[in-house]
Amino acid sequence: MRPLFLYYLICKLTSKCYHSGMEKYKVLLIGCGRVAVKHLKAIKKNSDRVELAALVDVSEEAAKKLDPSVPYFKDYKEAITTVKPDIVSVMVPSGLHFEIAKFALENGCNLLLEKPMTMSSSQSRDIYELSVKTGKKLAMGHIYRYFPIVGLVHDDINEGKFGKVTHGSIFVRWGHGDDYYGSAAWRGTWKSDGGALMNQTIHAIDLLVWLMGSKPVEAVSMISQRRAHIEAEDLGMAVLKMDDGSLASIEGTTCTSDKDKAAEFSVFCENGVITMGIRQGKPSLNIRDGNGKKLNGKYIRRQIKKGGISSLLGALNPHTAIYTDLIDSIANDRQPIADAYAGYTSVDNLMGIYKSAKLHQAVKLPLEEEFSSIDMSGYFEGEN
Ligand SMILES: NC(=O)c1ccc[n+]([C@@H]2O[C@H](COP(=O)([O-])OP(=O)(O)OC[C@H]3O[C@@H](n4cnc5c(N)ncnc54)[C@H](O)[C@@H]3O)[C@@H](O)[C@H]2O)c1
Repeated sequence: MRPLFLYYLICKLTSKCYHSGMEKYKVLLIGCGRVAVKHLKAIKKNSDRVELAALVDVSEEAAKKLDPSVPYFKDYKEAITTVKPDIVSVMVPSGLHFEIAKFALENGCNLLLEKPMTMSSSQSRDIYELSVKTGKKLAMGHIYRYFPIVGLVHDDINEGKFGKVTHGSIFVRWGHGDDYYGSAAWRGTWKSDGGALMNQTIHAIDLLVWLMGSKPVEAVSMISQRRAHIEAEDLGMAVLKMDDGSLASIEGTTCTSDKDKAAEFSVFCENGVITMGIRQGKPSLNIRDGNGKKLNGKYIRRQIKKGGISSLLGALNPHTAIYTDLIDSIANDRQPIADAYAGYTSVDNLMGIYKSAKLHQAVKLPLEEEFSSIDMSGYFEGEN
C-alpha cells in the first residue's frame, strides 16, 4: 500500500484531514429554520475540515427535516455539555443569541453567530469581551464581507489606492410580504428581531463602515411603517458621520417586491468609485478609477488569482466562505474576517440609529449608555 494512501486511510478513520494534518472540527447547529439550510450546505462544502455533530431545536420536526441522520437535542445547554463541540453555530431568533452565545463561550466553544449579534449594545459588548477573555473565535454571519472581490476592494481602499474616502451609501431593498412575517411569531417584534434595519440591513451597514475604514461618531435617522403588519419598522433611513468627516447614507427596507430583492453599496473616493450589488440573485460590479475607466476586469483577474475561479461564485452561498474563514482562524489563531468586534460595533451603530429615530435628534457614537431594541417598544403605536 502506498504511504500517502495509508496516511489518508488512517486520517479518515481518526477523523483528521489527510492533506493538512488538521483536526476535523465538530459543529453543533442550534436552530434548524430557514438559514440553517445554508449552514448545512456550507458544512458539506467544508467537509474535509468540519463535521456536523448534532442538531438542536425546540422543534424536533424542524431538526429531523434538516438532517435526520445526526443526534438531536431539544435543550442547547445539554447539547453543548454532552457533545462538547469545537464550533457552535447559532441560528435561533435574534432575541436568543445573547444567552446561547454566552453559554457556548463559557463552555469553551468557538462560535458562528448569526446577525445581529444580540438585541442590545451592552449585551453585544459583553459577548465581544467574553470572546476576548476566553480566546475563542467568533465569526459573525455578516455575509457581505465574504462576497468575492469585496476583500480586495477593502484592502485597496484602506491602503489609500483610491485616495481619500468622501462618502459611501448602501441600500437594502429586501422585500418581504406578510407570509414571511407571519411565518414565525418572533419576526418583526422589537424584543426578538427588530425591523428592516436590524434584521435585513445590519450586515450591510457593517460592510459599509468596514470598507470606508473610519469609525461612526454620530447617527441621524428616521424609521417608518409602510406595508408590513409588524411592531418594528419596514423602512428606515439613516446617515452616519464618520471620524474622518466622511458621511455614510443608509436605506433599509422590506417594503419592496419580494420578487425583486436588491442590495447595493457604493464607496466614493478621490480617485475612484466602487459599486457592488446583488439583484434577484445576480451580482453586479462597477469599479472605476478617477477618470471613469472601468477596472472590473483587473479585479476579477485578481480574485481568480487569489481564490481560484470557484471563488467568483462565493455570492451564491457566502456561508461556505464564513465556515472556511472560521476554521482557518481557529487553526491559525487569528481573527475571522467578520469577528466579534464587527458584531459588537454593528449592533452599537444600529442602536444609535434606533435611538436617534426615537429621540428625533442626532446621537453620538459609540453609545455611552445601554440601548436595546426593546427601548423602541410602542414606537409606532397609534400610527396604524
Ligand atoms: N446571515 C444571513 O444571511 C441570515 C439570513 C437569515 C437569517 N439570519 C439570522 O438567523 C437567525 C434565524 O433566522 P431564520 O430565518 O432561520 O429563523 P427561523 O424562525 O426560520 O428558524 C429559527 C429556528 O430556531 C428554533 N428555535 C427557537 N427557539 C429555540 C431555542 N430556544 N432553542 C433551539 N431552537 C430554537 C425554531 O424552532 C426555528 O426552527 C436570525 O437571527 C436571523 O437574523 C441570518
